Amino acid sequence: MSTVVENTSGTPMLEIRDIKRDYHVPQGFLKPDKTVHAVKGVSFKLETGKTLAIVGESGCGKSTLARILTFIDEPTGGELLIEGKKVDTRPGHLTAEMRQKVQIVFQNPYGSLNPRQKIGDVLGEPLLINTKMTASERRDRANEMLIKVGLGPEHYNRYPHMFSGGQRQRIAIARALMLNPKLLVLDEPVSALDLSVQAQVLNLLSDLQEEFGLTYVFISHDLSVVRYIADEVMVMYYGEAVEYGTRDAVFTDPQHDYTRTLFAATPRADVDSIRARMAKRGKLVSAG
Ligand SMILES: Nc1ncnc2c1ncn2[C@@H]1O[C@H](COP(=O)(O)OP(=O)(O)O)[C@@H](O)[C@H]1O
Ligand SMILES: [Mg+2]
Repeated sequence: MSTVVENTSGTPMLEIRDIKRDYHVPQGFLKPDKTVHAVKGVSFKLETGKTLAIVGESGCGKSTLARILTFIDEPTGGELLIEGKKVDTRPGHLTAEMRQKVQIVFQNPYGSLNPRQKIGDVLGEPLLINTKMTASERRDRANEMLIKVGLGPEHYNRYPHMFSGGQRQRIAIARALMLNPKLLVLDEPVSALDLSVQAQVLNLLSDLQEEFGLTYVFISHDLSVVRYIADEVMVMYYGEAVEYGTRDAVFTDPQHDYTRTLFAATPRADVDSIRARMAKRGKLVSAG
């Protein structure tokens, strides 16, 4: 890891130290299990309100890391700290408070939405499980959140199949925000969407980040998206972080050969067209 992320003052929202995840894959009768080192010791610090983008090819360990950061999976080594507090990630040891602070948004919201559940109930469910709010309080909060993500109360009684891909991703984001989390881990949240819809959802995410002071870990294999959304960038390669730095440092002066290869593989036209689109919407902050 060559480029250094400036150590600003204050306790980081999220810090991980040497996080590892091995999987033992059975090979069949009498054969020893194969060990997959999916994440091989990754560390970073992320300040409140910032976005860390994690980039890398399919299979490099991004989703494994996402599951660890959101307590869905347990690391086989290393430490995870939220607001300076070490999290006990063992099953049954996680506090409800910790679970509420960190939420995940997946690439395919359809897969994570129950087709028989009305959107209002999808949004109300985290409140039903985790709070003592009444049905009408839950309804109000769900309607409020629908508006925040660019939908409306008219969508409350509809089912997931009645929405477009972009709208479903807005619903997934709304659900993730129902318990006022501080950290969102977004695993390829726009990768399944058309380019124009991608831009809209990215804009929504940056508006929500500003409004709620959210911290994002944003996973993507798309460098043009990363360039738009990230404050800091980590490049993963076979389970390792081979590059970690501020967005501008990584994009202007990549240190690792793999990062240069990754950048070279991205057609320049792609980057230019998305930047032009963002600029038109007045959302492009700084040129890189
Ligand atoms: N539950 C699992 N059991 C065994 N191997 C896994 C499991 N989850 C992921 N892996 C392996 O770990 C590696 C990283 O996978 P993943 O985190 O999904 O990568 P990415 O999200 O970057 O595509 C891959 O080799 C994958 O096959
Ligand atoms: Mg993945």
